[in-house]
Amino acid sequence: MAPASAPSPEEFRRLMGRWATGVSVVTAHEGRDDAGLTVNGFLSVSLAPPSVLVSLARDVDTLPVIARSGRFGVSLLAADQRALSERFARNEPSEAKFRELAFHRAPGGTPLLDGTLGGLECQVAARWAVSDHILLVGEVDHQETGRDGLPLLFFRSAYSEAEAPDRLRLPAGRR
Ligand SMILES: Cc1cc2nc3c(=O)[nH]c(=O)nc-3n(C[C@H](O)[C@H](O)[C@H](O)COP(=O)(O)O)c2cc1C
Repeated sequence: MAPASAPSPEEFRRLMGRWATGVSVVTAHEGRDDAGLTVNGFLSVSLAPPSVLVSLARDVDTLPVIARSGRFGVSLLAADQRALSERFARNEPSEAKFRELAFHRAPGGTPLLDGTLGGLECQVAARWAVSDHILLVGEVDHQETGRDGLPLLFFRSAYSEAEAPDRLRLPAGRR
């Protein structure tokens, strides 16, 4: 049994909000379907073989497409791509997310967004169900370096922008 001091979900969310992350868009393609969502639950796992991990809620629409293709892509958003993060975080059909979107396809067919800091495509190597999330490890078989720009950041449940390589602009009233 958890000790009485275990945090409530809200307390835990606030603490984790103090862990600054970048923002990515995870994408997938199978048959005629493209799908994608905004993800900050992303990390690199190992260099050899190059592999990454993403944490996806069980009910996201992108998961079944990844399950069918066995592949996914990750696009690393730049500071001026907040609108893309908002677009891919919306709960709306995939067609709307990809409408008039500037993207290209990785060799395996996965869409990667244009104008990002970089992107990769990988094959699913492992999958675990953990509470209400699915953890996916992907082995990277394609990567591309994009613009040499500043990253879009997420901190205290809000977007932060890098003003310069050594300066952050944090959300007002949250310093
Ligand atoms: C900054 C940010 C980070 C997010 N990170 C994740 C994440 O790591 N995993 C996840 O499942 N959803 C995450 N979301 C929520 C999804 O983007 C959102 O639920 C999306 O609508 C799911 O799309 P889909 O159902 O079309 O796949 C995040 C949202 C935002 C704004």
